[in-house]
Amino acid sequence: MTTSFVYECLDSVDSTNTYLKEHPKLWNQNFYTLRAINQTNGRGRHGRNWFSGKNNLTFSFIFNSLNLFNTLDISSLTIYAGLVLRNALSRISKLPVLIKWPNDITYQNKKLCGILTEMVQIKESKIVIIGIGVNLNTDQIPEELLEKTTSLKDITKKDFSPELVLNEIMNDMVQYLPTYNLPFSESICAEFAANCDRDANLVTLVDKNTKSIIRKKFDILGINEHGLLSVIDENGNHNYINANELEFNQNPKNQNKDTI
Ligand code: BTN
Repeated sequence: MTTSFVYECLDSVDSTNTYLKEHPKLWNQNFYTLRAINQTNGRGRHGRNWFSGKNNLTFSFIFNSLNLFNTLDISSLTIYAGLVLRNALSRISKLPVLIKWPNDITYQNKKLCGILTEMVQIKESKIVIIGIGVNLNTDQIPEELLEKTTSLKDITKKDFSPELVLNEIMNDMVQYLPTYNLPFSESICAEFAANCDRDANLVTLVDKNTKSIIRKKFDILGINEHGLLSVIDENGNHNYINANELEFNQNPKNQNKDTI
């Protein structure tokens, strides 16, 4: 039984993440949620744009937890939020959706949903803004994105109510996100391993320091207790990949393309 989640909804805003960043008065309201019907400058990871057609779902919320003080970076929180999101979307859609490390939710190797997590720090307080874009009802996916993007309507041929989906997701976030802590427990690592997109194993890694591009094929084992991706490369070497140091892409051709 879920309760009705109260949130603010704007017809149009540049980006719900940017709006929350620019309104520090809202930062002490844990789980304060802003939805936008239309974003004029939606942002994705790595400086990409995030396009969202009509009747999709775009929103951001504040997360404020003492456990964040143990967190050196927020990629592990993004993974944790991704697990919560995957479970909610799988329940809502009745589809075996997967989590593609570090921040995508996929179905049959196509992107359904993305998360943009940003930390803001003033004096002693550290808060996180978690932005989520769900491809709900897009039935006209731009040609250039067809290969790697899908929507719940595209898959099921049914319409999904953005209000109901947001309500389900946020009820789960409120229930589970406060239990986020590092190191991850064995059951969290096992849950990730059971639900991760293993097809996303042909990757392009961009070394943020040298900007050099390394193309590798990995077998994905899961995550370790710090949220690093545990992989075995073609030569049988075991490695851990950090989402902050390396960019993880499936298709080198689409590396700088915008996403929906
Ligand atoms: C990604 O996959 O690169 C992350 C996409 C995150 C998009 C959402 S939509 C709501 C929130 N506002 C933004 O500007 N971005 C996030």
